[in-house]
Amino acid sequence: MSAVILLGLVAVAAYKTKPDTPSFRKFITEESKTQSASPAKGWLNKITNAVTGVINLPDFKVTGWVKTDGTLSSSSSASSSSAHTAAQESRAEQEKEKAVRLKRDGKYAVAATTFLAAGRKYEQFGPYDAALCCEEAYKCFKQANDKSSAIDALHRSAILFNKDSRSTTRAARAYETLAENVRSTGDLTRSLEYYNTARDAFETAGDGRAKTILTNIADITLSLHNYTAARTHYETLAAESIDNSTLRFSVPKYLVNGVLCTVAEGDWVKAGKVLEGYGARYVAFGGSGEFGALKDLISAHDRFDADGFQKAYNDLNQSTLLPEQWKQVLLKVSDKLQNADVSFR
Ligand SMILES: *[C@@H]1O[C@H](CO)[C@@H](O)[C@H](O)[C@H]1NC(C)=O
Ligand SMILES: *[C@@H]1O[C@H](CO)[C@@H](O)[C@H](O)[C@H]1NC(C)=O
Ligand SMILES: *[C@@H]1O[C@H](CO)[C@@H](O)[C@H](O)[C@H]1NC(C)=O
Repeated sequence: MSAVILLGLVAVAAYKTKPDTPSFRKFITEESKTQSASPAKGWLNKITNAVTGVINLPDFKVTGWVKTDGTLSSSSSASSSSAHTAAQESRAEQEKEKAVRLKRDGKYAVAATTFLAAGRKYEQFGPYDAALCCEEAYKCFKQANDKSSAIDALHRSAILFNKDSRSTTRAARAYETLAENVRSTGDLTRSLEYYNTARDAFETAGDGRAKTILTNIADITLSLHNYTAARTHYETLAAESIDNSTLRFSVPKYLVNGVLCTVAEGDWVKAGKVLEGYGARYVAFGGSGEFGALKDLISAHDRFDADGFQKAYNDLNQSTLLPEQWKQVLLKVSDKLQNADVSFR
């Protein structure tokens, strides 16, 4: 029993001197809500307050917290550690202020690297301020037209925001911007990875943007010729959009893409079944021009009717905005039918 009490006392001493573990931060921020301050500066204030005893840490809470965390580290003298920390944080702040001045003076490239340096200094105090610095570095690199460094800085910022449990939405936004940037460089695989991370984070945060991101995920998956996964995504999008008056108009486009994914895999029998299934489930789609054109397209293919196929293709192209990829896929089929047509005569 006395050992437990001793452990508790040691823990209080140890953690008062080592305030940089995530659970300590959580403890401080959650237990001291009375001390509200700006996110950037509040963290240091809270630590300082805790170390100097302005906020009294109730012993039973600290003991409970030690039990769930389970880690104890070596301790040094509380006052020297606090001075050390304050000096380090002050150096980080000075670096950031320097970066802000450089940015204001339009010296974007050097401002960007200075923000990164400040970010590295902030990292030992937790991810949030470091993430903000990396995000600033991203903006400066963009201004300096250094696209690749901008992407690296934004990636660092996304990782850091993701480490901060209260910044999940911000992490999601950073990953989404990262995905857009990487997509514009043509690296679709990497872009898809970041969109997926963004979607997961938005979902964790209960943010509706998880759904809007899925259109990007579906389109990239299609561009990467991953037709099975793309069709699943388009079906999810259709199901999620049908009851929303703003999104409903996109449903036919998603369903056309779903059917053409099956076509692109070369399975025309399945394409016919998938189409009928969509028509039954989405009644308005079943009576649409897109549905009719797809039905004609499939039956013309099955009859080796090149002219009928071409006509159905033109109808489809008129009733919906076809992605370039589908034009290529369908023109190839059309060519094949033209040639087959000759050999059948
Ligand atoms: C297609 O996408 C799915 C879902 O994202 C993935 O699990 C699968 O590995 C991908 N397939 C290929 C061939 O890339
Ligand atoms: C419909 O979708 C829009 C755009 O995503 C969204 O802002 C809106 O909240 C949705 N409405 C409903 C009723 O879900
Ligand atoms: C598809 O339709 C558009 C007009 O909507 C037209 O400009 C384009 O040439 C058509 N593409 C093909 C390959 O027929």
